Amino acid sequence: MKIIAGNWKMNGSRAALETMINSLRDVNTPNTVILCVPYTMLRTGANGVQTGAQDVSPHVAGAYTGDISAQMLADAGAKYVIVGHSERRAYHNETNAVVRSKAQAAINAGLVPIICVGETMDEKQAGKAMAVIESGVRESVPSDENGKIIIAYEPRWAIGAGLTPTSSEIAQAHALIARTLKSMGRGGTPILYGASVKAGNAAAIMSIPNVDGVLVGGASLKPDDFIPIITSVK
Ligand code: 13P
Repeated sequence: MKIIAGNWKMNGSRAALETMINSLRDVNTPNTVILCVPYTMLRTGANGVQTGAQDVSPHVAGAYTGDISAQMLADAGAKYVIVGHSERRAYHNETNAVVRSKAQAAINAGLVPIICVGETMDEKQAGKAMAVIESGVRESVPSDENGKIIIAYEPRWAIGAGLTPTSSEIAQAHALIARTLKSMGRGGTPILYGASVKAGNAAAIMSIPNVDGVLVGGASLKPDDFIPIITSVK
């Protein structure tokens, strides 16, 4: 059983989500399927798919114009929320500390945060990838061991680029994340791989040790691309 999560980023429509959910009706899979959609498309899950958001406020309520609380996401039907995605870190200057407080807010509202970590190309070329990944996990995961979480390893240089790390690079990163989580009292936390996943590479990526599923961007937008990923593994 794997976790197949889609990240629609700022794409799609309520009608497109309806089409996707209808297309999933006849898909027989043991895998957990999640679609992280824009706020306006959140809804209660159906046909074996749950929805999630792509960001959340660290605050519970109050004068934070334009922000959305974890409780509001839960109220809208979400079960998951991505925190610390590379694009949030890059375009909104989100630090590990901010990501951790958002993850904690999600847990407090009964949501499962999908906490993203990963290195930039500069960090990779400087030989710092493993250090960045480890500190990403240590600093972005709430120290409170309560509440389920999911980690997504997303090498930032590979997102949307059609590039993927080698299998051994993915294996090394996931093994490090698994060890780090264990040392934090969070052994067994699912670890997803994300960046340029498509039907043609999904099964191979999910056969790598410690890869418990995938977080899919572009290839999660259309049923014809997403369903073959869901059905590529049991
Ligand atoms: P792509 O699958 O489009 O590379 O995006 C990956 C991603 O950012 C998922 O969160």
